[in-house]
Amino acid sequence: MPYPGLKDIRMSFDIRPAVLSDVDAIMAVEKTGISHPWDRASIESLIKDGNKTALVALSGQDVVGYIGASFILDEAEIGNVCVMPGMRGKGTGSALLKSLIEDLESKGVSSIFLEVEDNNTTAISLYTKFGFTKYNMRKDYYGPDRNALLFKRP
Ligand SMILES: CC(C)(COP(=O)(O)OP(=O)(O)OC[C@H]1O[C@@H](n2cnc3c(N)ncnc32)[C@H](O)[C@@H]1OP(=O)(O)O)[C@@H](O)C(=O)NCCC(=O)NCCS
Repeated sequence: MPYPGLKDIRMSFDIRPAVLSDVDAIMAVEKTGISHPWDRASIESLIKDGNKTALVALSGQDVVGYIGASFILDEAEIGNVCVMPGMRGKGTGSALLKSLIEDLESKGVSSIFLEVEDNNTTAISLYTKFGFTKYNMRKDYYGPDRNALLFKRP
């Protein structure tokens, strides 16, 4: 019987495209995990706009995480990824990012960009694990001494 919390234990999640009826659940995930959550219109646009895409991670029937991106031609930008605090460290973020990369590649995207605060070590580890590399920094982007790191893949 494995012990919960061991690093090599991974849960399996269903990942599927987000639909409008997921918006409340996505907002709930954001409110628990992000200091400046997106508003309803921004989240709805991820689902409605033809140049955007959003995926949700389900544990049973419950939305426990989501990821969203916009794309144009062969380039995309990840807008946000968030997992419910109690569900982190179990592979959900990885499953979401892997599925998003596959989704974007199927749409013809070859380069993916994102920005992340320089103290967000978990997110940086996640992006690095999937081949993202840092190419620039925006000093004080999020406020005094709060820098943005710019990552891209490949
Ligand atoms: C970033 C986030 C989405 C990761 O989700 P997650 O479900 O915990 O991700 P995973 O369990 O798949 O872990 C992915 C990698 O992150 C790293 N990681 C996970 N938990 C970590 C922790 N507690 N400390 C340091 N690194 C950690 C590991 O490298 C891990 O890969 P590995 O276990 O194969 O080595 C989640 O922490 C989150 O929602 N954070 C708040 C929102 C946020 O900051 N989003 C990013 C904005 S740019």
